[in-house]
Amino acid sequence: MRQITIAIDGFSSTGKSTVAKQIAKELKYIYIDSGAMYRAVTLFAMNNGYINSSEFNKKELIQNLGNIHLSFRLNEKKDLAEIYLNKVNVENEIRGLEVSKLVSKVAEVSEVRRMLVKQQQEYGKEKGVVMDGRDIGTVVFPEAELKFFMTASAEKRATRRFDELISRGDKVNFEEILKNVEYRDLIDSTREDSPLVKADDAIEIDNSDLSLEEQFEKIYKLVKKKIKN
Ligand code: DC
Repeated sequence: MRQITIAIDGFSSTGKSTVAKQIAKELKYIYIDSGAMYRAVTLFAMNNGYINSSEFNKKELIQNLGNIHLSFRLNEKKDLAEIYLNKVNVENEIRGLEVSKLVSKVAEVSEVRRMLVKQQQEYGKEKGVVMDGRDIGTVVFPEAELKFFMTASAEKRATRRFDELISRGDKVNFEEILKNVEYRDLIDSTREDSPLVKADDAIEIDNSDLSLEEQFEKIYKLVKKKIKN
């Protein structure tokens, strides 16, 4: 069967990464979570005092991009790749609400995007990759053989995110999460550089009322059809 590139874009908390991981596992493809890369750069900026809730020193971040080294390493117990920032595993730290609140600001910076897109394209050079994000089908892999665009209502997405954070043991408030989801939608889809838009040739999947199994079945059917062609 031929190796292809699968791009999965969409709004935050639409379950992109869940289905991307399932598809990659089934096909024995590499899975890359491009959002984790933007989150790790945000954590770097936070740790170095370049960004907080009231200030963002973009210039300092841009000047220090060369000091950021990102890599993915397999966690054999979980059978999943986890992200490392300068050799430190930050997989858990980047998922907190603090990083979520600041990441859209960092993802607006063109210099950050250029650096990360280059690394993402490197990961996909050999094909056999499933990557999820916001600009994968439009900017990173415009030639991807298969593109999906995931949507769901903001309330559904906030509920999923709330359940996820509560199960991690975080103390969170539903209204705050809903506000964050809506805020990120707005910034992600209106920023100047690589806004979140559906690629013309992407297949739109609204999963508001789909279970994880139904979503996987629907997408995997389309994937199988494509790789057989
Ligand atoms: O998928 P996520 O929620 O972990 O992504 C975190 C943020 O990173 C999101 O608010 C937008 C940004 N992002 C992006 O701009 N481009 C991507 N390819 C992936 C994520």
